[in-house]
Amino acid sequence: MDTIKNYIPENKERFLNELIELLRLPSISADPAYAKDIIRTAELVEKALQEAGCDTTEICETKGYPVVYGEKIIDPKLPTILVYGHYDVQPPDPMDLWTSPPFEPVIKKTDLHPEGAIFARGACDDKGQMYMHVKAAEFMIKNNTLPCNVKFMIEGEEEVGSDSLADFLEDNKEKLANDIILISDTGMIANDVPSITTGLRGLSYVEVEVTGPNRDLHSGIYGGAVPNPINVLSKMIASLHDENNHITIPDFYDKVEVVSEAERAEMAKAPFNLEEYKAALDIGDVQGEKGYSTSERYSIRPTLDVNGIWGGYTGEGAKTVIASKAYAKISMRLVPHQDPDEITELFTKHFEAIAPKSVKVKVTPHHGGLPYVTNIESTGYKAAAKAYETTFGKTPIPERTGGSIPIVALFEQVLGSKTILMGFGLDSDAIHSPNEHFGVWNYLKGIETIPYFYKYFTEMSS
Ligand code: BES
Ligand code: MN
Ligand code: MN
Repeated sequence: MDTIKNYIPENKERFLNELIELLRLPSISADPAYAKDIIRTAELVEKALQEAGCDTTEICETKGYPVVYGEKIIDPKLPTILVYGHYDVQPPDPMDLWTSPPFEPVIKKTDLHPEGAIFARGACDDKGQMYMHVKAAEFMIKNNTLPCNVKFMIEGEEEVGSDSLADFLEDNKEKLANDIILISDTGMIANDVPSITTGLRGLSYVEVEVTGPNRDLHSGIYGGAVPNPINVLSKMIASLHDENNHITIPDFYDKVEVVSEAERAEMAKAPFNLEEYKAALDIGDVQGEKGYSTSERYSIRPTLDVNGIWGGYTGEGAKTVIASKAYAKISMRLVPHQDPDEITELFTKHFEAIAPKSVKVKVTPHHGGLPYVTNIESTGYKAAAKAYETTFGKTPIPERTGGSIPIVALFEQVLGSKTILMGFGLDSDAIHSPNEHFGVWNYLKGIETIPYFYKYFTEMSS
């Protein structure tokens, strides 16, 4: 019998090459032009699950892109771990900022990844992290050390809001039944500061349209006398925060969880260096809600951000024009007890109320999701913490993150399952940005750590 310590170096090249093959497929869920690549990716993931030793695999059709399912049931009386991940990726643009093409993976060294990192769209979010689970299962199955049952559910629409998954969960409750859900789709503090994600923010996402005059106008002939929808939209957006960077939407904070002083003090113990944070992003200063630290601002507090804004002339040179319409895409990250549908409604009412009567506004809701918090006293958390202690030699720090994985709250609602978030990426891995990468060390460390979670969770559950 091989140990994981031996198995990784023996198979390292193959582990990297298989991931590189997966990363070559441009499985961009946001762009219908890549629908064929999405299907090819699902097929490759299914093949990988078969080769890892799953007894049953299946490509499950949904209203949207398919879910890849696989399972290895060794004894129905033993606990069952359901691994969730996603094989779709974000669009790679802006393309010209990539130092190597997004779907031609290469391994390059970086300051934080002296052993090299794989540069490709999806390397960290989430193909690389998802694939760690496939390789960890392969090790356990091939070496007869799988201590419990495992099911895989790898989806293809996470980056566009997992729209088909509510129905998929409802229709497959039995098949997906489990004792714990395990996900690697978040990050950790640093390679020598392991952490476990204990909170995800929720999300409300809207698109707004402001219409002024019924056609584009000459900005000299009409300028100064008519509403300019871009000026109006900018002013409306600016008014959504006050001088303390509080969000001004009435009742927005009503349900926000008040985190106790004791818990805030506990959270503040996690290492965080403001100067390094600013330097890494090349910003002169941080900015955010008065009364909260930077790490609180991106974890336990809700936000409102413009993600895109457009209208009028944006081509080469100058065109003198007052546009008829202006648009923006706005996200609100939510914290425990805030409800995305309620927040979307509050936003809509407020946005309509603050519009001057010179313009018309339209608010279109996009996908949303509920926040999630892990109980650090649970068996799942304790098993995960012990797994990190085993492979990192350090107790992991529980840390809430600012990102969202809406399916996690849905898992609890529909399947009654809790989720453990074992992320191995770093914030600097540039997910959703040009030059996304995933450390080779992190990839292998994940493969090494995951089997210990299986072992300790099974032991602690009996
Ligand atoms: N893996 C991310 C979420 C994430 C990343 C959480 C890092 C914590 C740390 C996921 O793929 C993602 O991008 N989620 C979206 C939400 C979705 C509804 C599009 C997000 O957070 O913007
Ligand atoms: Mn992800
Ligand atoms: Mn993502």
